[in-house]
Amino acid sequence: MKGNKYIEREGKAATKIYDNRSLEKDFRTLKSVLKEGMIVLDVGCGTGAISKDVAKIVGDNGKVIGIDNTKKFIESGKESYKKINNLKLIHSDLFSFESEEKFDLIIAARVLQWLTHPKEALIKLKGLLKPNGQISILDYNHEKLEWHPSPPKSMKTFYDIFLKWRKDAGMNNKIAEDLSALMTEVGFHSVEVFNSNEYYERGDENFQSKVGIWSKVAGLNQIVEEGYIENEYRLQVIKEYDEWVKKEAISMTMKLNEVRGKKLKK
Ligand SMILES: C[S@@+](CC[C@H](N)C(=O)[O-])C[C@H]1O[C@@H](n2cnc3c(N)ncnc32)[C@H](O)[C@@H]1O
Repeated sequence: MKGNKYIEREGKAATKIYDNRSLEKDFRTLKSVLKEGMIVLDVGCGTGAISKDVAKIVGDNGKVIGIDNTKKFIESGKESYKKINNLKLIHSDLFSFESEEKFDLIIAARVLQWLTHPKEALIKLKGLLKPNGQISILDYNHEKLEWHPSPPKSMKTFYDIFLKWRKDAGMNNKIAEDLSALMTEVGFHSVEVFNSNEYYERGDENFQSKVGIWSKVAGLNQIVEEGYIENEYRLQVIKEYDEWVKKEAISMTMKLNEVRGKKLKK
C-alpha cells in the first residue's frame, strides 16, 4: 500500500504528528457515540493517541484494541500508553486481523483514504462487529481542500499532481463523500454523515505546522521517484509554500466527514 511506504519513510515525523492527536481535537464528533463499558476496535490507530482518549471514556468495564500495520507506531504507542490498562495495541494489518471477541464499536480515522479496496475494508469491519454494533469512519475529501488566500501557483500544481498520484495508485481522493453509499451497499443501516471539517486560522496554536503539512507532503521522495515531479520543481514548491505560510496564509480548511453505520441484529 503506497500510503504506508511513505509513512515508513517519514517515520519520526509521522510518529510525532500522530502522537499529538486527540479525541477532542481530531475526532470530536465521535464523543456522542462513546459509552462506558464499550468494547472498541480502533483500526489504523497510528500511535494510539486517539485510542487512549477513547479508552478513558469507555472506562475499566470497557476496553479499546488499536491495530496498525506500521510497526514503529505500535511500538511507540505501547511505550507511551503502557499505564492505560484497558488499551491494547497490536501490530496487524486490518485484512489479516482476526478476533474471537466482537466489537460494539469500530472506528477508523484517516485510514480508508489510503486503501485501494475501501469496500472490502468495510465488509471486513462488519464481520468484526457484534450484532447491532456500529462503525464510525472519519475521512477526507481531498478534492475540496480550501486555502485562503490562494497559495502559490507552484503548490496548486503540486497538489493536482499529488491527487493524480493517489488516484493512479487506486486511492479515492473523495472517500468522505462516497462512504455513506459504500456503507449502504455492504449492508449497514442507519447510515449518518457528520461534518468534521478541520479549520485552521492564523493565530491558532500550531497554525504553521498544520498548514505547513503540504510542504512535508511535497518533501516525499516517492512522488519524485515515481516520475510525477522533478526534484528541482518540488524544491521550488516547498520554498514558495513555506514563505506563503509564514507571511500570507490566513486560513486552511480540510474537508472531512465522520460516517456512521449500524450492523443488523443478526
Ligand atoms: C493517517 S494515519 C491515521 C492515524 C490515526 N487514526 C489518526 O487519525 O491520527 C493512517 C494509519 O493507518 C494505518 N494503516 C493503513 N492501512 C492499514 C491497514 N491495511 N491495516 C492497518 N493499519 C493501516 C497506517 O499505518 C497509519 O498509521
